Amino acid sequence: MKFFIDTANLDEIKEAYDLGVLDGVTTNPSLMAKEGIKGDDNVRAHYKAICDIVDNNVSAEVIATDYEGIIKEGKELAKIDDKIVVKVPMIKDGVKAIKHFTSEGIRTNCTLVFSAGQALLAAKAGASYVSPFIGRLDDISMDGLTLIEDIVGIYQNYYFETEVLAASVRHSMHLLECANIGADVVTCPLKVITSLLNHPLTDKGLAQFLADHKKVNS
Ligand code: E4P
Repeated sequence: MKFFIDTANLDEIKEAYDLGVLDGVTTNPSLMAKEGIKGDDNVRAHYKAICDIVDNNVSAEVIATDYEGIIKEGKELAKIDDKIVVKVPMIKDGVKAIKHFTSEGIRTNCTLVFSAGQALLAAKAGASYVSPFIGRLDDISMDGLTLIEDIVGIYQNYYFETEVLAASVRHSMHLLECANIGADVVTCPLKVITSLLNHPLTDKGLAQFLADHKKVNS
């Protein structure tokens, strides 16, 4: 299972990378805005800075929503670095653009996916990744994890190569359920990854080991 971090914050990306378990980064326009990144040149420079930290898989989202615009913007993003994956929204022109990018060898991440039908379309178009949003479905009292399960099953039925990238992951139980289901990737905030470290019995056991060691070595 791949771990991606869902942020545009360089310090958090470095921290996750230094942990040694990071496989990629996803960003979106809201996350870029949160870091105060504006203007085409600054946006490109920021994506380059992210690519310089990690080994691969940096999702950079297009802003255009028409076919020609998505193609132009996606090609410009892909030129920044070989690690870039062009993130395209699940809309009609987006699906057409994913098909085109696939034919040109440009990797894509189809984002804002909320149904199995949308995921099927993304796979048919040849998306490298499909991003179903778990947390946002949970927010409206729908079951985000059931969607992940459905998509994993459908892709297995037809041997689609599109990887299921579980997004909008809010806590460690989301992540662990995705692992149980067999999602290929999860993207989440740093705190969700680091929360996997925690167990009270680990803390208690370590304190005991250190205390026992101290008893005979002081
Ligand atoms: C996915 O690529 C999105 O950036 C992200 O996971 C959205 O998460 P949110 O619903 O917590 O904003």
